[in-house]
Amino acid sequence: MDAIKKNSYPVFYGMLKRKDKERLSKQHAKAIWMTGLSGSGKTTLAIRLECKLYKMGFFTQILDGDMIRTGISNDLGFSENDRKENIRRVAEAAKLFLDCGIIAICCFISPTREMRNTAGKIIGKKDFIEVYVNAPLDVCEKRDAKGLYKKARKGNLKNFTGIGAPYEIPVKPDIELRTDILSVKKSVEYILEKILPKIKSQR
Ligand code: ADX
Repeated sequence: MDAIKKNSYPVFYGMLKRKDKERLSKQHAKAIWMTGLSGSGKTTLAIRLECKLYKMGFFTQILDGDMIRTGISNDLGFSENDRKENIRRVAEAAKLFLDCGIIAICCFISPTREMRNTAGKIIGKKDFIEVYVNAPLDVCEKRDAKGLYKKARKGNLKNFTGIGAPYEIPVKPDIELRTDILSVKKSVEYILEKILPKIKSQR
């Protein structure tokens, strides 16, 4: 709204604000930003977490790399610049969900600190919960659910994170999950315990 005022488009003045939407959705909208290697468990956890939240009456939307890359980002590849642009777009999209009072669960490798910082800035630091889905490379490689590690090792997939392209470990994530040690159930319980106080409002 401030930006709108600054740009002085009076036509937007009466527009409902996020607070109004949150009064309806009865929750505080946040972005739960899952970062980690391919195969670390981001999407699996997001799906289970969303189910739990749904049963508790929370409105959520999952934004996932594989899904987004067939739509909004279908013109992008995996060079550093394309990844930056991918993350910029999904952060802007997540922000729109937050503006609707909806919790966005974002699953993106988002391999560099700079990319995650950008996402945090776009979404707003106080609404950005960084979750480091941490499984060592060898574990992710063993899982290899999509067969991409094998392809990358053979040299048939350029810039694959962890092999031909870097992954920078988050310095101070809000939540860290060792998915090679914790079960999916325990991981979801742990995230829930941490995020519930942040998303709950008077119902
Ligand atoms: S990000 O780096 O821009 O954040 P994003 O999370 O959207 O990546 O997409 C990652 C998914 O794309 C992986 O889970 C995998 O299925 C697929 N993928 C295809 N090529 C690559 C690659 N070179 N590096 C990483 N993931 C890839």
